[in-house]
Amino acid sequence: MALDVLLGLQWGDEGKGKIVDVLTPNYDVIARFQGGPNAGHTLEFNNIKHVLHTIPSGIFREDTDNVVGNGVVIDPIIFEEEIKKLQAMDVDVNSKLFVSKKAHLILPTHRLLDAASEKAKGKDKIGSTLKGIGPTYMDKTGRNGLRVGDILAADFDERYNELVEKHKGLLSYYEFEYDLSESEKKWFASLETLKSLNLIDSEHQLNNDLKQGKNILAEGAQGTLLDIDFGSYPFVTSSNTITAGTCTGLGIAPNKIDNIIGIFKAYCTRVGSGPFPTELFDETGEKIQKLGHEYGATTGRPRRCGWLDLPALKYAIMINGVTELSMMKADVLSGFDTLKVCTHYSIDGKLYDYMPYDIINAKVEPVYIELKGWHEDITAAESMDELPEALHDYIEFLEKELELPISIVSVGPNRKQTLLRKQYA
Ligand code: GDP
Ligand code: IMO
Ligand code: MG
Repeated sequence: MALDVLLGLQWGDEGKGKIVDVLTPNYDVIARFQGGPNAGHTLEFNNIKHVLHTIPSGIFREDTDNVVGNGVVIDPIIFEEEIKKLQAMDVDVNSKLFVSKKAHLILPTHRLLDAASEKAKGKDKIGSTLKGIGPTYMDKTGRNGLRVGDILAADFDERYNELVEKHKGLLSYYEFEYDLSESEKKWFASLETLKSLNLIDSEHQLNNDLKQGKNILAEGAQGTLLDIDFGSYPFVTSSNTITAGTCTGLGIAPNKIDNIIGIFKAYCTRVGSGPFPTELFDETGEKIQKLGHEYGATTGRPRRCGWLDLPALKYAIMINGVTELSMMKADVLSGFDTLKVCTHYSIDGKLYDYMPYDIINAKVEPVYIELKGWHEDITAAESMDELPEALHDYIEFLEKELELPISIVSVGPNRKQTLLRKQYA
């Protein structure tokens, strides 16, 4: 019986979907606990690439329940599209997918409010995915939101209209022009698909699963540096992306948590606005972007790229209580004579080994250590022995600095391109 957690230690897109898919055969249940369709989790196997937004990344494996927990926000239109795509591939979604009745609904007007707010911020915009995430979580904490369970209530339309009237007031404050008719029609039609799913009291089901000795893996979305409390506020998402978020987002107590797998890229990327101390603006950044195909899985936007940032990574490890690490995209770093890793920030001549409060406004100079690179193509490696010595040294250096084992090394996007350094079953 265990709840393990897998979550991102950087600014999202670390490769969570891929590793959840790889580890799923060891679990009975995969559960999403926060975020919503701002997430884009990519899985590759049998020469097909899948991008999941709301549905947990265990959906392709046999005999695994997939739970969308209470902490998630759901856009029924996007959810329906995902489900239809899976059904067209003969994935038995209806028997494997469970949705918390307490998960909040993203309304078409939430998406409009997201767009209106971003437009009003102008050059200071967050760079949101425009999926309505912020406004939906605002209605949740403001105690105005609509939840999945509400769609079964007789007065649902009335409650919907009441909330939409509030939103229209806000939209007129923003002087934002819109046409709601089409999206509203689509939204109500998509509720029928939502109604056809297993709508459950997920906190009870998950705790019963644990009692029966089942293993659960909680799948994080976004990353620690986008956390509403501990990320580079205000350039963050609107949920707790960290380990603590699994407890509130699933209704599972902290003492049930066992392993916490922190996942990071061998370098850094960020999509959207906000501080990024090791960002590269030169041809090296372009090279990483090109080799790593660094374009958003949800929005297609190019991802900003930079060297690995140890102060940020150590911070994320501390906040999450990480017990082991998964290093992704090692293959993308093939082809550099030297690699840089940031060990400290220099701000006004003072050295920091953590992210200070005013990171947003401070002029941060990253302090780098240089490590030897490698040129070998490692994408076909099937064991650690096949990796070049310089990559072994890179891994050893990081394990020493981060004081944790790197138990998974990923050398390509495919399910098979994964080197497991410990027994998971
Ligand atoms: P997630 O949001 O954390 O699930 O990550 P994304 O799916 O948004 O972004 C990760 C991208 O990197 C996807 O396109 C993956 O297919 C790809 N990917 C994952 N692991 C590796 C790897 O080890 N090497 C390479 N080259 N690509 C990878
Ligand atoms: P996955 O799960 C990368 C970023 C957006 C923006 C900020 C706020 O695929 O790792 P939001 O739409 O949440 O209000 O946007 O957060 N962001 C992500 N960046 N990966 C994600 O998810 C992200 N989800 C949100 O780019 O900067
Ligand atoms: Mg992603």
